[in-house]
Amino acid sequence: MLRLNFDGKLSRWDILQRAHTLALKHGRIIPAEGNIIIQSENLFALSLLLRDYSGKIDLVYADPPFNTMQDFYISDNRANSVSTTKSRKAYADKMPLEKFLAFIRERLILIHELLSERGSLYLHIDCKTGHYVKILLDEIFGAENFLNDIARIKSNPKNFHRRAWGNQRDMILFYAKNSGLNIWNDITFPLNDSEISRLFPKTDADGRRYTTIPLHAPGETRNGITGKAWRNIPVPEGRHWRTDPAEFDRLDAQGRIEWSSSGNPRIKKYADEHEGMKIQDVWTYKDPQSPAYPTEKNHDMLKLIIAQSSLPDSLILDPFAGSGASLLCALELGRKFIGIDQSEEAVRVMRERLEGKCSFVNPVDKIGV
Ligand SMILES: C[S@@+](CC[C@H](N)C(=O)[O-])C[C@H]1O[C@@H](n2cnc3c(N)ncnc32)[C@H](O)[C@@H]1O
Repeated sequence: MLRLNFDGKLSRWDILQRAHTLALKHGRIIPAEGNIIIQSENLFALSLLLRDYSGKIDLVYADPPFNTMQDFYISDNRANSVSTTKSRKAYADKMPLEKFLAFIRERLILIHELLSERGSLYLHIDCKTGHYVKILLDEIFGAENFLNDIARIKSNPKNFHRRAWGNQRDMILFYAKNSGLNIWNDITFPLNDSEISRLFPKTDADGRRYTTIPLHAPGETRNGITGKAWRNIPVPEGRHWRTDPAEFDRLDAQGRIEWSSSGNPRIKKYADEHEGMKIQDVWTYKDPQSPAYPTEKNHDMLKLIIAQSSLPDSLILDPFAGSGASLLCALELGRKFIGIDQSEEAVRVMRERLEGKCSFVNPVDKIGV
């Protein structure tokens, strides 16, 4: 098995052992059902969650600091940025790479324990660090459970004076706890007007837009039914009928086969029956221009992740919750959530957004419960 070695790498057993010891010592975070925001260092909070939530979380969206070697500040005028002197520090992002890898791996091991058998992880990371983290995730989840490296276009083109290509994207590593069992709702994007005009150039007498496709597809069938002539029309060489020719009789009776003047039949496909575009692995979701918190992520992107990889009865975890954007989106989509962040400023923003809709807990207050 391929492994990434770095100083300070603990064994999985040691990490889980320490987490279980912490959980035994400090007790439950909160026994209540429902939405929870935990103000805490997340290794501590994740350890405490193991007791009640192992195998119960269907979706984790994790957006850790990207190891940018910067501090992030917050100001009241919503120009939340990397640094201004008149603002308050939201969080620091300054760890040497090896320390960062040890930090993220410990948390990913606990996240893997918390995920349900149908669960998924979306880890948001940048391109400088992401390739190392991919190897760690392959170790923890198994390379067979890697599903996508989504390229997220995060900004407009930049004009830095670096002797290198502009960096416009970061990455989202998508893993299943068990590939093939992961919740997948087959969300598609509806076609827009210009796509409909391009893909369905013809219009029926009743105004419905459509296109036509051949009855046959590449690949020969020697003996099967899809290789036999239909109404004395032979299958072209090297091709086979798309379906049992009896189906063509049914389509023809419904007026769904268009015959050319030379007697060439083609199947009619209607725009209003199109199931939408399958979503690909390059996403353009730029972050808010006036974020409530530095590095707040695009809400439409978060809603897409939640809609695709969770169900109405799912519990969603964001261990680096920041502004609570993912939690707000989970709430809007009727999902339950647990959010964790250690920053006072993050929790202040989350209170503004989510007060009254969830419980706020600080496990340090609960020690000994
Ligand atoms: C990139 S931001 C998350 C932004 C968030 N996705 C949003 O849309 O608002 C990372 C967050 O992780 C938090 N964080 C970093 N290390 C942490 C730790 N060890 N425990 C808990 N929170 C941590 C920081 O305070 C920061 O709010």
